[in-house]
Amino acid sequence: MKRLLITGGAGFIGANFCHYWSGQHPEDRLVVLDALTYAGNLASIAPLLETERLRFVQGDIADREHVVALLEAERIDTIVNFAAESHVDRSIEDPQSFLRTNVMGTHALLEAARSVWKAPKGDSVRFHHVSTDEVYGSLALEDAAFTERTAYSPNSPYSASKAAADHLVRAYAHTYGLPCTISNCSNNYGPYQFPEKLLPLCIVNILEGRALPIYGDGLQVRDWLHVSDHCRAIDLILSASPPGETWNIGGSSGDCNLKVVETICELVDVAFASEPELARRYPRAAPACGRSSRSLIEHVRDRPGHDRRYAVDGTKIARLGLTPQTLLASGLAATVRWYIENETWWRSIVSGEYRHWYERQYARAS
Ligand code: NAD
Ligand code: TYD
Repeated sequence: MKRLLITGGAGFIGANFCHYWSGQHPEDRLVVLDALTYAGNLASIAPLLETERLRFVQGDIADREHVVALLEAERIDTIVNFAAESHVDRSIEDPQSFLRTNVMGTHALLEAARSVWKAPKGDSVRFHHVSTDEVYGSLALEDAAFTERTAYSPNSPYSASKAAADHLVRAYAHTYGLPCTISNCSNNYGPYQFPEKLLPLCIVNILEGRALPIYGDGLQVRDWLHVSDHCRAIDLILSASPPGETWNIGGSSGDCNLKVVETICELVDVAFASEPELARRYPRAAPACGRSSRSLIEHVRDRPGHDRRYAVDGTKIARLGLTPQTLLASGLAATVRWYIENETWWRSIVSGEYRHWYERQYARAS
């Protein structure tokens, strides 16, 4: 039986990981540590909060003493660090908070683990750090995909802060023998994603009849991976990777932003055409007003320093047994359906802080 500390477990990927893990490993104890910033949402793990299996603790990964107390009290043997500031556009507006959580917070977590775990033997403990493919920088169309040996070349304050954290994790493994692993994953999509990221933003905007803002020409390419495949990959790494390894995780589903958004538009239009009650539930949605969702697409000013293309070479993790199970077409269809059916979840978010952020961000971009 494992005892896991899942930091950032009320965020998008962390919450999906909690659902995944409690389904796959029902005997394990899960402790979620999350600061509940604007992106953290207890509603995402609500059903699990009612079980004995999961304990939620509100707190900051940068608070080393709190983390030490938690590791000791809960006899944690596995840390999976999802906690981060995660949105590139916000990092352009406010880099400081990214350095604080992503760099100093990860450092505090490493220190806490080192002081509590002291001289770990064999596979008794593990610190897994969840990172991004964005640390490798941007690819030209003809470039080969990122491998684990690609040099780091981060371009945004977000990716620079994640790169710094990765370096610290590596250094703690090398210098102090802390049993760490790192995964660098491509763009995730799926349920519970905060609607500041491209895909949920577009789905929610279609349902609300708002413009779909495409930065620049929309031909930037991302390697889209369904979040459930990311969760499976982390599970495989925890069970089969020796400490000290890094793993790239990708979807092999490279598509440009414009095409992915157009697919989402078609999926919503088809759903509205076949289910007339959707027009009653979402009267402002483009297809409810006799317009195609595509007509909402607007090209707006490009993101400063916008990376053109990411692509991940998944050869190494395929050797552990990972092949993505959710294809982009079916994953997008399921995701559109999830947002249509979970209006209460996203409506509780798209007010307050989110609205202020949205107005500032898209006033800058228009
Ligand atoms: P998210 O923004 O949805 O969730 C982050 C969570 O961390 C939130 O619940 C937030 O409250 C919490 N948090 C923030 N600061 C904290 C702090 N100081 N202490 C404790 N908790 C704090 O992000 P996400 O998309 O779920 O990403 C999770 C991790 O995966 C991040 O490390 C991110 O860099 C990485 N990642 C994300 C993607 C992606 O496509 N979303 C891809 C690859 C890697
Ligand atoms: P995003 O979801 O922010 O993820 P990341 O920047 O980490 O890849 O953005 C995905 C892509 O979509 C990225 O190329 C930027 C683009 N994008 C838009 O075109 N419009 C938007 O409103 C947003 C949020 C993103």
